[in-house]
Amino acid sequence: MAKEQLDRIIAAMATAPVGLGGPPPPVCVINGRDKIESMIPSIMAFYRKFSQGMKNTVGRVMMRTMMGKVQFTALDSFMPTIDRMLEFYDMTKHDTITWGAPVLMIFHAPKAHISGRHDTMIACTYAMLAAHAQGLGTTMIGMVPPYLERNPDEKERLKIPAENTVDISLIVGHPASKFVKGIRRPVATTWV
Ligand SMILES: Cc1cc2nc3c(=O)[nH]c(=O)nc-3n(C[C@H](O)[C@H](O)[C@H](O)COP(=O)(O)O)c2cc1C
Repeated sequence: MAKEQLDRIIAAMATAPVGLGGPPPPVCVINGRDKIESMIPSIMAFYRKFSQGMKNTVGRVMMRTMMGKVQFTALDSFMPTIDRMLEFYDMTKHDTITWGAPVLMIFHAPKAHISGRHDTMIACTYAMLAAHAQGLGTTMIGMVPPYLERNPDEKERLKIPAENTVDISLIVGHPASKFVKGIRRPVATTWV
């Protein structure tokens, strides 16, 4: 993708609010489908191992102890989606993690920053809107951060400091479909 388009996205992120003031959280931009594609087998291997762990009694007990019951139940209900994703990849070699996108942006912030996770999510949202304003398509991808958080070598290769947490990623590309309107989902609103 043209660097100018990505520069405009980054310029928009520079105006994002940050919890403690100071600069916006850092972002790692992977520009080029070939570079993203080369990471896919390793991401799939990570999720395959993870899925096996979630089917194993000892693994389940460990995860439940680490995460707590509520989070574990939420994760467990998501496992069929992960299994379908792996099956589809095995059959077609088509990855439904980065969806063939040419650009992957990875948002991270120092673990020591009290508002780091909020800052990265806000910066990612600004990036999403700035991409959309240029006619680009985006999707936030939550499947990439767990892989990077458990693969320090890959994090290092991507120049993401070990003391930073990867919170969210964003795929950016040229949309195959033109959407004329967004889906309006009801907002649970309480007026007091
Ligand atoms: C925090 C967050 C994480 C997400 N992670 C993923 C993901 O890993 N894979 C994916 O395909 N979509 C992911 N999405 C996209 C949502 O699934 C998408 O926004 C939702 O389906 C609504 O899309 P729609 O408004 O186009 O229907 C994520 C969205 C958010 C906000």
